[in-house]
Amino acid sequence: MFDFSPSTHADKAELYAALLSAAQAITSGEPDIIANMANVSALIWQYLPDLNWAGFYRMVEGELVLGPFQGKPACIRITVGKGVCGAAAMTGETQLVEDVHSFPGHIACDAASASEIVVPVIVTGKVTAVLDLDSPSISRFDAADQRGLEALIAAIAARIG
Ligand code: SME
Repeated sequence: MFDFSPSTHADKAELYAALLSAAQAITSGEPDIIANMANVSALIWQYLPDLNWAGFYRMVEGELVLGPFQGKPACIRITVGKGVCGAAAMTGETQLVEDVHSFPGHIACDAASASEIVVPVIVTGKVTAVLDLDSPSISRFDAADQRGLEALIAAIAARIG
C-alpha cells in the first residue's frame, strides 16, 4: 500500500511540489506506462481539490484513446484537433479553459465540467498522450496549476509515454 497524505493547508506551489515527488516515487523503476498513468491519475485525484475528472488520453494510431483516469466514464476516442484534448494534441501546447461553455468544440463527457486544463505529454518531440483535468468550478485552473502540471508531466514523461 502507498499512503500519500497531501496537506490540506499547502499553497498551490507546495501542493504541486508534493504531488511531483509522490509521482516520481510511485513511478520510479516501473516501465509499464499504463500502470504509471493509473497511479499518477489517482495521485492527482488525491492531491488536487475541486476536480470531477482527471486522467489520460493516449495517442494510438493518430487518435486519442481513453487511458487510465478517475471520475465518471468518459468519451473513448477523440480526433486530434477536436475539443480541448484534441487541441492540446494538435498544438503540443497546454490548453487552459476557464469556461468550457465558451470553448468552441468542447466535448462534454461530464455535464458537470465547467473548466478544464489539458497538458500534452511530449516524448522525443512527439505528443504521446495528454493529461486532462476537469473541474465543476468556473476558472478552477490558473497559471500556477499550469506551471505545476507542466513540471509534473515533464518530470515523468518518459515513464508515461
Ligand atoms: N472535455 C474534453 C473531453 C474529455 S473529457 O472532459 C474527460 C475535450 O473537450 O477534449
